[in-house]
This record gives sequence, C-alpha cells and structure tokens, in this order.
Amino acid sequence: MADARLLDPGAAASAAAAGGDLVDLSSDTQTRPTVGMRAAIAAAEVGDEQQRGDPTVTALCERVAALLGQEAAVMLPSGLMCNLVAIATHTSPGDLVLVERAAHIARAEAGGSALVSGVQFEVVDGERGVFGPEAVAAAHAEPSNYWPQLGLVALEQTHNFGGGSLWPLDGYDAVVAAAHERDVPVHVDGARLMNAVVASGIDAARWGGGVDSVWIDFTKGLGAPLGAVLAGSHEFIERAWRFKHRFGGAMRQAGMMAAGCLYALDHHVERLADDHANLARLRDGLVALGLDVTPADTNIVFIDPRSVGREAAELQSALAGRGVRVSVVSGRLRALTHLDVDTDGIDRAVEAFAAELGRA
Ligand SMILES: Cc1ncc(COP(=O)(O)O)c(C=O)c1O
Repeated sequence: MADARLLDPGAAASAAAAGGDLVDLSSDTQTRPTVGMRAAIAAAEVGDEQQRGDPTVTALCERVAALLGQEAAVMLPSGLMCNLVAIATHTSPGDLVLVERAAHIARAEAGGSALVSGVQFEVVDGERGVFGPEAVAAAHAEPSNYWPQLGLVALEQTHNFGGGSLWPLDGYDAVVAAAHERDVPVHVDGARLMNAVVASGIDAARWGGGVDSVWIDFTKGLGAPLGAVLAGSHEFIERAWRFKHRFGGAMRQAGMMAAGCLYALDHHVERLADDHANLARLRDGLVALGLDVTPADTNIVFIDPRSVGREAAELQSALAGRGVRVSVVSGRLRALTHLDVDTDGIDRAVEAFAAELGRA
C-alpha cells in the first residue's frame, strides 16, 4: 500500500479562481479555531506544565481521565506522541505490538515506535480495521527466550484508513478479553473516539475504562489547534511522564493549548452528529453518481474513482479546480467532514463531482 497522500497545494488558489470558498474535505484536521475557542485560549490561566503547575492543563487531564473511565491522564502535543509514549510505556525492545494492517500506528507514524521503542509490528488483516480475538491468540507465545513476546494489542476507534469504521462493542470486548487473558495490555488509538461515542451512543468511559491506555485527539473533529490527552492508571501515567520528557513532549505554558481543548469538550462533541449526517449526505450524492463509496459510519469515506473509469490523482486535481479538496490514499479519494464544512459545502462538493463526471 502506498503511503497516505496528499493534499493538492493548489486547491485554495483554484477555489478562489473558481469564484467560491474552498470546500475542504481533505481532512478533519483542516479546521480553524472558532472565535469562541480563540477567546477561551486568550483567557487561559497558565503555569509551567513541565513542572505540573499549569492549572488549565491539570483541569483538562482530570476531565479527560474521568471521561475515559481512567484514573489519570497526561497532555501531549500530538496524537502521534500519545501512541509513541504509550507504546514505550507498555513494551520492551523486541516485543510484538499487534495492530491491524492499515492502523495509523503501523502505517502512518514513520516507523516511530520501531525506532524509539524497538518494537516489531505484528500486522493482522481486518475488515475495515476491525479484527477478531483469534488474531490475539495466534500472535501470543508462552514466555520463552526463543519467540518474540506479544507486548501490546493496539486498536483504533474509529479506524481512519478503514473509512471512519466503528468497532462494534462486542467485538471490541472480545479482543480486549483475549489480550487480558494472556496478561497482554491493550492500547486504544482514540484519535476519533468521540466520533465513535456520538455514532454508537456508547459512553466514552465504556470504550476507555476497560483498556490499559486510551487517548483522544483535540485537533480532529473537536476542532482545536493543538493537543491530545493520554489516559490510564495512575501508575501507567507516572511512567508515561518519563517518555513525555524523553520525547520532548513536556511543555511550559501549555494552558494556552488546554483551554482550546476544554472549550472543544464543552462545545464540539454533540455537534459531531452533524458531521456524520453531512457525511451520509455526501455519500448518498456520490453513490447516486455511480461511485463506489465505503459506508458512512462516522465522518470519513473512501471513494474509488476506478468505478467510473477515473484515476485518483487526476480526479483530485480536477475537483480542486472546482473548489473541492479531497485527499488521495492508496489509489482512492478520501473525504472527511468536520466543523468547517456545512450542508451547503456538501452539496457543492457533490455538484463538483457531478460536473466532473459529466452528470451535472
Ligand atoms: C487514527 C489516528 N491516529 C493518530 C493520528 C495522529 O494524530 P496527530 O495528527 O494529532 O499526531 C491520526 C492523525 O490523523 C489518526 O488518524
């Protein structure tokens, strides 16, 4: 599989030339902080985060730990660093980390955990990112100096490259139980866990409380400019702090960042339902044009342009010329909905596809 690619840098200019605002479906990371969020950031009370003296960061960590059903939490600058720190905290060099083939950890982190933690990825095939407990049984070996030891099972909820797919609760529980029966911890990459919460109606604490580490990202659907929070037991988070320092994730007046995240928890969680409704609307429009599109579980779809005889990079450029930005991943187009795309934007995107495919 080719790496995730790429945003067309000319899209904004093309949108201006096409006489409209850009409809940016390339990623849910493309949001700008709202006026209210900027005001909250400006008013943040701050201290020295590295010395655990920033009151806004402390408030955020306490809130996220409770939200995720965990004892404690630590703030980090990015989601990727949450995965790096969690893997470093759970594993020893040479351990296997079991992940689904298209998981962000395996596929989109530049091999960071292999580099800094010396782990090997035990990559298993899933159905849109979801796999079964038998994968855990197959990867596990009894303690031995010969076999690599399974040090961690990592799940992704929702699954980005699976198309925003949702782990069903029973399948999730079965994998967690299979790992725990073998004394193997479970980590959850919850970059979009709040999308899963809103789409499933199942509390964040139910998803997060039974695993050994879990994090949420504030820079995706939640619309903040910076920040992710990793949660776990008191003991796990204390050990994680060592890696936070080691990897350069200990900060200073990070309350500026935490204030945006607290604002997002207050104002941007329930509205994720709008993103999901917009994605379903986009999908319906594209399916009506004869395109092959993955199901609309949450806020991400993949569109296979080969279903209408087109090639992804070429169609991406053509859409950019019509003011619509999408990304290309492994020969398919990827579209995401978020805070900065409304229903009109979705309709404009469908019109751009229709015009491009000669179905206007
Ligand atoms: C599933 C998943 N995990 C981790 C990350 C990394 O998050 P960040 O961009 O905050 O480092 C992303 C980013 O897209 C993601 O989609």
